[in-house]
Amino acid sequence: MKKPLVVANWKATKTIKETIEWINKAKTALEEVTYAQIIIGASYVSLPVAASLFEGTTVKVSAQDVSKFQKGAYTGEVTIEMLDGLVDYCIVGHSERRKYFGETDDDVIEKVKLLLKYDITPILCVSDLSQLDAYIARGKEIVDSAEKTVFVYEPPGAISGGGVYRPEDPGVANENASGIGNKINKKVTTLYGGSINPENANLFFSQAAIDGGLIGQASTEPQGFLELLSNVKLNLPAK
Ligand code: PGA
Repeated sequence: MKKPLVVANWKATKTIKETIEWINKAKTALEEVTYAQIIIGASYVSLPVAASLFEGTTVKVSAQDVSKFQKGAYTGEVTIEMLDGLVDYCIVGHSERRKYFGETDDDVIEKVKLLLKYDITPILCVSDLSQLDAYIARGKEIVDSAEKTVFVYEPPGAISGGGVYRPEDPGVANENASGIGNKINKKVTTLYGGSINPENANLFFSQAAIDGGLIGQASTEPQGFLELLSNVKLNLPAK
């Protein structure tokens, strides 16, 4: 069985100091996790310190976005050249980027292309299967490089808010996750994201078409994240 991917999406919740504190509290326990691939999605400013603290461990670091522009006169942007050598993964197309920053399908495709070019694995969020159709229609890389991409089925309505969890039904999540593989017509890695927490994680991780999770709220405190991981371990299914 492939190891599940557990991706922490810290969003915009941590200062550099808080990042260091989180890692110092969790690092030893995370180093002992052999049953899952852990990926920590830190903010841009915290990436260097996160990458350096996890250096030499199996824990990988992810950016939460990348500019669609390459090096140049784009004030405020963080380009692919800046992430090159710093991260192995990058979340792209998160629904919060669309909602608050007007990101479009075309923007997302440009970003995926850059990430693939630089060998950084895109963690591509898909709100529903029609959005995947739109991506496929715009960029053949989505299908051609599907094995080098991690897909996330993440319905925006299931994302936690104000500390309240409102997860998708695990069976429905599984159907959609399997729909991604069917549309791509290849065996792809597909995660589910939206209100995964220590109590429900095993319900999602045990689904046949779900290869792991994108965890927001429940990853922000080390204790909760470690509890989630222990529950995943206890309930790892024989897929
Ligand atoms: P959540 O966030 O786990 O807090 O619902 C997931 C995400 O938006 O990536």
